[in-house]
Amino acid sequence: ITQDNLKKLVHYGFEIISPATGLLACNDVGEGKMPEPEILFEYILKHLAMEKDLAGKKVIVTAGPTQEAIDPVRFITNHSTGKMGYALAKVCMLRGAQVALITGKTALAAPMFTEVIHVTSAKDMYEAVCERIDKADIVFKAAAVADYTPSITYDNKVKKKESDLSVPLKRTDDILKYLGTKKRPGQILCGFSMETENMLENSQAKLIKKNVDMIVANNLKVAGAGFGTDTNIVTLITKDGFRELPLMSKFNTANAIVDTALELY
Ligand code: CTP
Repeated sequence: ITQDNLKKLVHYGFEIISPATGLLACNDVGEGKMPEPEILFEYILKHLAMEKDLAGKKVIVTAGPTQEAIDPVRFITNHSTGKMGYALAKVCMLRGAQVALITGKTALAAPMFTEVIHVTSAKDMYEAVCERIDKADIVFKAAAVADYTPSITYDNKVKKKESDLSVPLKRTDDILKYLGTKKRPGQILCGFSMETENMLENSQAKLIKKNVDMIVANNLKVAGAGFGTDTNIVTLITKDGFRELPLMSKFNTANAIVDTALELY
């Protein structure tokens, strides 16, 4: 009877929060516990926290670093922690979008109510993005994708020798550039650019070269911006010019990025 009643509620548009699994008050083990308050709070936030101005939109967010294997033991990667991308995924979800978060390896918990696709290498990320791009309205490419990958990945551990060692590298596919070549009318592409010098000029060049609608640029050498921090200082670059944002939390930065993307949309 309870299950029938739950189905009826779903039919009338109510959202059912499934019970958690574990040891129940009756000493049975199974599905029937109250979900943790934090989980319930996430459901409440999903409905109430923000205006649903992305309702009906499909958004792809890429986040985190890629790992390029040298052998089964070593890989080449970078310092990205995924915080900016995860904040974007959360903001888009709270604003009502259907979000696919394509993420390299990070230590972060993925935001609830998003589709999370775990990838390792630049090639994996390329494939995961390409699979979903046709349906996407807005793409945020926050991931720090490797520009180079080892020319050969060894099946077995490379043993040390007396001599020095070089690892030959080949270029990876530039995912964002590829998306720029097949951008459909109305689709919004947003790339990211991290620089240590000539941030504005280099980032404006990326906007043109990759045929994207917006570049979110930051300077790694500015305190409060860059890898691993909970804050960021970014400049939003579009074809119409650029806007410098002040130091903000990555969550608020994500909101400002989404505002601009939505204006362009
Ligand atoms: N990007 C990508 N695929 C790659 C490399 C980068 O999609 N193989 C995307 C990133 O996700 C980011 C943007 O492109 O949105 C960064 O541009 P990129 O030209 O890679 O910046 P840098 O590598 O920092 O530029 P450069 O090497 O010229 O300094």
